[in-house]
Amino acid sequence: MNSQRIPVAVINPDAPADSLEAKQPDVDNGVDIFGKEGYFSKDYMALEWDKLWTRSWLIAGVESDIPNVGDYFLANIREESIIVTRTEEGLKAFYNVCSHRGARLLNQEHGNRNVFVCPFHSWSFKNTGELRTITDEAYFKPEVIAHRPGLKPVHVDTHAGIVFVNMGENPPPLEKSIGLPEGYLEAYNIDKMRVVRHVRSEWGANWKVGVEAFYESYHLHQVHPETRGVMGDLNVQYDLYPNGASRMIVPLGEPSPRIRDKTVNEGLKMMLQDVGIDPEGFNGTAEDVRRAIQVAKREREKRLGLDYSRLTDGQLTDSWATGIFPNAQIGCHPEGVFLMRFLPHESDPERFYYDTMTLILPADDPNYKPPDWMGLPEGTDCTGKVRPPVEYYSIDEDPQLGLVLSQDAALLPVVQKGMRSRGFEGQLWSEQEQRLRHFHVELERRLKE
Ligand code: FES
Ligand SMILES: [Fe+2]
Repeated sequence: MNSQRIPVAVINPDAPADSLEAKQPDVDNGVDIFGKEGYFSKDYMALEWDKLWTRSWLIAGVESDIPNVGDYFLANIREESIIVTRTEEGLKAFYNVCSHRGARLLNQEHGNRNVFVCPFHSWSFKNTGELRTITDEAYFKPEVIAHRPGLKPVHVDTHAGIVFVNMGENPPPLEKSIGLPEGYLEAYNIDKMRVVRHVRSEWGANWKVGVEAFYESYHLHQVHPETRGVMGDLNVQYDLYPNGASRMIVPLGEPSPRIRDKTVNEGLKMMLQDVGIDPEGFNGTAEDVRRAIQVAKREREKRLGLDYSRLTDGQLTDSWATGIFPNAQIGCHPEGVFLMRFLPHESDPERFYYDTMTLILPADDPNYKPPDWMGLPEGTDCTGKVRPPVEYYSIDEDPQLGLVLSQDAALLPVVQKGMRSRGFEGQLWSEQEQRLRHFHVELERRLKE
C-alpha cells in the first residue's frame, strides 16, 4: 500500500483531535472490487428488502412536521407505508393498514387525525393504535375479533429533530446505530428548523448509484463545472464513522484548486452579497472570500437571532455532507439543511426516488433570506409557518431542483446503463471515493447477517 503518497485534505489542522471537525483516523476498508449485480438484480433487491430495509433505522421525516397531537405523516418505503404520528402518549408509528381486510388507512402524506377511519368498512382506530370501533360488531363471531386487533406498531425514535423508524423485531438503539459522534447533528439546530420545500423525483438508476454520486466530490469538475469557482473540490475532507456513516466537508466560498484564476469571480461575488458584503468594495482575492463570509456570518448571527454557537468558523461556510447508512445524506449548513433520502423503487432495481427536504432555521428579521445558492425558488416562504406540500416529478420530468441536480439526474441513467455492460467489471474507487467503499463494506456486512 502506498497510502503515504495519497494526498489527504484537512479542513482545519488546528482542530482538537476530539472535536467534531478533526480529521478522523483512517479506516482500512481494503481494496477489493465489489460485484455489480446489486444494481440490476431482482434477487439482490429482495435480499436488500429482507436484510436492510426491514431491519435498519430509516429516516422517516422530521419532528417539526408533526408539532401537535394528532399530526401525522406517512413514510413510504418500497411497498410499505408507515404512519408516524404524535399522540397524547408521545410519538408512535404503525403500518398504514387496517387490521380487518388490509385496506390502506391513510393516503394523504401529511395531516391531523385523532382517529383513523378505514375507507373500506369504516372500522376506526385511535391514533395510539388501539382499535376503537368495529362496524356492525354483532355480525362477527366473537372469536374472530376477541383479540381486539389494533394497528401493528413499528419502532420509532428521534435524534436531533429527525424521526427514524425501524420495521425490525428488536432493533439496536438508534443513537448507537447512527454512528455519528454525540453533538454532531445537534449543533445545527435541526429541531428548530422548518421544512420550506419538499421534492420527490424519480430517477433512472439503482438507489445506490444515487447514494454514490452524492458521497463524493470527484465528479464536480466534470459534471458540474460551474461549481469550480466556489467549491474547493480537491480540498475536501473525508471522514468515516462506525456503522457505515461518513461525511465530507466541502469548503464553499473558495475556488477549486483546479483553476488558477484567483480573482473574485461571479459566484464568489454572489456569496459575498448573500452575507451583506458589497463585492465591489471587497479588496481581497478569491482566497480571502471564505474567511470574509465566516466573519460576516458570525457578526450577523445575533442580529438575526440565529444560533451558531455550536458551529466552528468552518461550519459557517462549508457543507458538512453527512451520510447516515443506508440511504440518507444530510447537507448541513448553518442556515439550513438538505435532508436527502435515496428511496428504492417498489419493483424496479433500476429506478429510485430522490426525496429531498430543504429545512431552514427561521430568523427574527422578516427580510432575512437564506443564501441564493441553496436554490429555493423565488417566493419560497421561509418563515416556517407553512408546511409546503410534497412536489412530485416523474422520471420524464426535470426534478426542478436547479442546474446541479438536473445534471446529476441526467447523468445517473448513463452510469446505470454503462455498468450493465459485459465490458464493465466493477467500480475502482479512489480515496476521494472512500465513502463509497465504506458504504459498500457496511452493506455487504448487513446483507450477510
Ligand atoms: S378493510 Fe378496513 S374496515 Fe374493512
Ligand atoms: Fe453531482
